Amino acid sequence: MILTVEPSSTGLRGEITPPGDKSISHRALIFSALATGRSKLTGLLESEDTLSTLKACEQLGAVIQHRSGMVYVDGTGGELHAPPGGILDMGNSGTAMRLLAGVLSAQNFKSILTGDESLNSRPMHRIVEPLRLMGANIQPSRRGTAPLTIRPSQGLRHIEYQSPVASAQVKSCILLAGLYASGVTRVIEPRLSRDHTERMLPAFGVNLPAACSVTGGSRLNAAEFEVPGDISSAVFPLAAAALVAGSEVTLRHIGLNPTRSGFLACLQEMGADFRIINHAEQGAEPVADVQLVFNGRLKGIDVPESRVPDMIDELPLLMALAATASGTTRIRAAAELRVKESDRLAVMAAGLQNLGVELREYPDGIDIQGGEVSGGYVESAGDHRCAMSFAVLGLVATDEVRIDGAEFIATSYPGFSKDLQNLGVQMRAGASV
Ligand code: S3P
Repeated sequence: MILTVEPSSTGLRGEITPPGDKSISHRALIFSALATGRSKLTGLLESEDTLSTLKACEQLGAVIQHRSGMVYVDGTGGELHAPPGGILDMGNSGTAMRLLAGVLSAQNFKSILTGDESLNSRPMHRIVEPLRLMGANIQPSRRGTAPLTIRPSQGLRHIEYQSPVASAQVKSCILLAGLYASGVTRVIEPRLSRDHTERMLPAFGVNLPAACSVTGGSRLNAAEFEVPGDISSAVFPLAAAALVAGSEVTLRHIGLNPTRSGFLACLQEMGADFRIINHAEQGAEPVADVQLVFNGRLKGIDVPESRVPDMIDELPLLMALAATASGTTRIRAAAELRVKESDRLAVMAAGLQNLGVELREYPDGIDIQGGEVSGGYVESAGDHRCAMSFAVLGLVATDEVRIDGAEFIATSYPGFSKDLQNLGVQMRAGASV
C-alpha cells in the first residue's frame, strides 16, 4: 500500500490518546497466559504484533476474550499446552519470539517459533546462547536466525548472565526461562534496557529477589492490569506538531518510563516547546500527558551515546526531524538499528536521500545535514517505524511524499492515519504500483 502525504498548510490541533504500549502489551498477554486465574487487561494494544502474541497464547492454552474494550485472559497456571501442529507464527514481532522462546525452552513439548521474512532474518544467537547455558535444547537455522526449534530439555539451571547487548528482549527471555530454572537467575546488562518485565512481574505476584533477577519456581497470579499509552507511537503526532507551523497538540496518558523517554530529551534539545502534565502512575509505570506548541524550526543535535538505548525505537523519527532541522545531527553507537524490523540506518538513509537530504552513513550511526526536503517516493522496507517517520516528514516536504509498504504501520499503530486526521492532517492510502 502507498501512503501519500501532502505538505500541510495548517497546523495540527487537538488531543489524542495514542494506542497502548506494544512492549507492555506483549508482556501483559504472556504473563496473563502463564498466570493462575483470570487476568483483566485494559488499554491493550491491538495491532498485528500483539495479535501474534495473543494467538500464540491461545495456541498454548490460554483462553482469551474481548469484552467492552477489555481483554480477559484465563491463564494456564504455567502448564502450557503443546501448540496444534507444533508451530507458532510470530509474524513480524521480535519481542513475541524472543520472550516466548524463554518460556518454551522450559516446556515438555517440542515447538517451532517462526515469523515473516524480516523476523526470520533477525539474529537469534543473542538468546540461543544464554538459553543453552541454562540447559535449553534450542536450535536456530543455519544462519543463526528463526525458525527456532525448541525441544524438551533435562531441566533448566539458573545462570548469572552478562549480556553483551542492552536488550530488553534478551533480558526478558532469560528471566522468563529463569522462572522455570533451579535457583536465582540474574541478568547483567552493559546499560539498563527497558525494564517493563522487572516492573510488571510483581504486579503478577512474582517478587524479584534482586535487580534483574528471578527465583526459579515462582508462580504468576492473575492481575488486573492497565497498559499505558505507547510513547513509541505518541512521538509521531508529537513530532509532526513540532514540525508544522501553527500546531498545538496534547497527547494523553503516555508511558514515560525513563528507559523509554530519551526521544523527549532530544526533542527538547532541538528546541521544541512542550510540557509534561498530569503525572500519574499506572501498571507500575509513570504516565503523563504531553502538550506541545509549535516553536519554529528545530536545530540539529549530537545525540549522546548513553541515551541511545532509551530511544532506540525513536531513532528513525529523530532522523526524519534532523532532515529539516538547522545544522547537523549526529547519531552514533546505534549499530543495533541494523538488526531491527529492517536495517533502519540503511532504510532511513536511502529514503532521506530520495527526498534530497544530505547525509553520511556510518556502521553505527549517521550524520544528517538539515535543509529543505523535497517530495518523492520512499520505501518502508516492511518497517512500521520507518514508514511513519517518512509520513511525518512528508508534512513539511516541498511536494507530496509517497511511502510504499505503508501497510506495515499496522504492526504497531493501526490508527496512525486516523489519529493524524483527527489532528487536521490528511493522508491518502492507495494500492502499491
Ligand atoms: C523491546 C525491546 C527493544 C525494542 C523493541 C521492543 C521489548 O528491542 O527495540 O521494539 O519489548 O522488549 P531489543 O531488546 O532488541 O533492544
